[in-house]
Amino acid sequence: MKTAPHFYYQNDILTVDGVRLDELASQYGTPLYVYSKAAFTEHYRQYADTCLAHQSDEIRSLVCYSVKSNSNIAILNILGREGAGFDIVSGGELLRVIAAGGDPRKVIFSGVGKTADEIRLALEHDILCFNIESLAELHRIERIAAEMGKTARVSFRVNPDVDPKTHPYISTGLKENKFGIPYEEALESYMTAAKMPHIAITGIDCHIGSQLLDDAPLLEALDKLTDLFDRLAQQDIELHHIDIGGGIGITYDDEQPVPIADYLDRVFARIAAWKKAKHPGTPFTMVFEPGRSISGNAGLLLTEVQYLKTNAEKHFAIVDGAMNDLMRPSLYEAWHGVLPVTKRAGQTAVYDIVGPVCESGDWLARQRELSIKAGDLLAVMSAGAYGMAMSSNYNTRGRAAEILIADEQAHLIRRRERPEELFALETVVS
Ligand code: LLP
Repeated sequence: MKTAPHFYYQNDILTVDGVRLDELASQYGTPLYVYSKAAFTEHYRQYADTCLAHQSDEIRSLVCYSVKSNSNIAILNILGREGAGFDIVSGGELLRVIAAGGDPRKVIFSGVGKTADEIRLALEHDILCFNIESLAELHRIERIAAEMGKTARVSFRVNPDVDPKTHPYISTGLKENKFGIPYEEALESYMTAAKMPHIAITGIDCHIGSQLLDDAPLLEALDKLTDLFDRLAQQDIELHHIDIGGGIGITYDDEQPVPIADYLDRVFARIAAWKKAKHPGTPFTMVFEPGRSISGNAGLLLTEVQYLKTNAEKHFAIVDGAMNDLMRPSLYEAWHGVLPVTKRAGQTAVYDIVGPVCESGDWLARQRELSIKAGDLLAVMSAGAYGMAMSSNYNTRGRAAEILIADEQAHLIRRRERPEELFALETVVS
């Protein structure tokens, strides 16, 4: 397993940008999410800088960070100040972006189930665009925009029916998935939208899946979108942007995802050639919705070994982090690296790292060779994306605290939840 650049040992103690994790554990307790501001910024800039390098009078771009991957407002604030837009999937995420000082005019709203209240909220804040996923949703947006005397900017999320070759739970661009409008029905849907007085058609989009290592399926999807773009132009429906979604994967173990700059170079090469041939002279924006490739390798989950236990079959390290803190292993059998915070020489054993939750599925890692004892700290790596964001209070466990390391200083960006807070909204019926 390769460690990500901002997570390294100094004198045999694991640090985040030089800040010792053992010291963070004594100060803030465990389980604890620890993020590197420098990593977030670097990953975002890989997108932003390459986009800038390809910018011209005719081709612009917008990187909309996918809020769902890690939605702490400190993170959103950092990315917003870098110039990021945001990809949201709920009214709650919109309120987070606003609380973080993000610009609603750079927000795109995806998701198959937008409620009337969420649509109203988004229109009130004049977001950049709704990514519409069904005709029923189109009709709802038209009706609400009419009631509010507004015009809604929209794009259709088209399902391009390409195989992203990733885990079935995070693959979204195949015909059988619930996402988007079938490719064959897209043209007709646009024709319907074009007749609506409170709808302004601005673009087209797709998102085919997550943790993609190869960009070939994304480029295939892009070709399908430019194709539709051309056919819509023939019907006098003029689009201004293409949104290719997110999906670029990260290294958890030894995966080698396509470098972001290479992927973007290929996207812009195609877009530039296509535009020159088919739509010269018209301004155009390329939109990206990256989540994991920005946040995944920007954070870890720190946990303390409570007990070591051995049965006839296995050695277990029972830790204080659990499936409620990091759901990915239980839900997708996802693999996360596990590193001892203090490197220890001595005898090793092969452990399953499990949490205290009453489910056999409550494990964080399996079959890891470690030299550990009770009281040791372990770091579950690559946990910056879909970690805290997917956490729950199952077993009445308060959610972990979150720390951001910025300029070698630790900042508490979310305090640990207290048990009383977990039932404070409940009422006894007498
Ligand atoms: N745009 C849309 C419309 C999405 O649905 C997603 C992720 C993204 C962008 C960002 O994709 P990314 O760049 O992060 O791959 N919980 C799963 C991942 C679910 C992804 C959901 N959609 C996991 O932990 O692997």
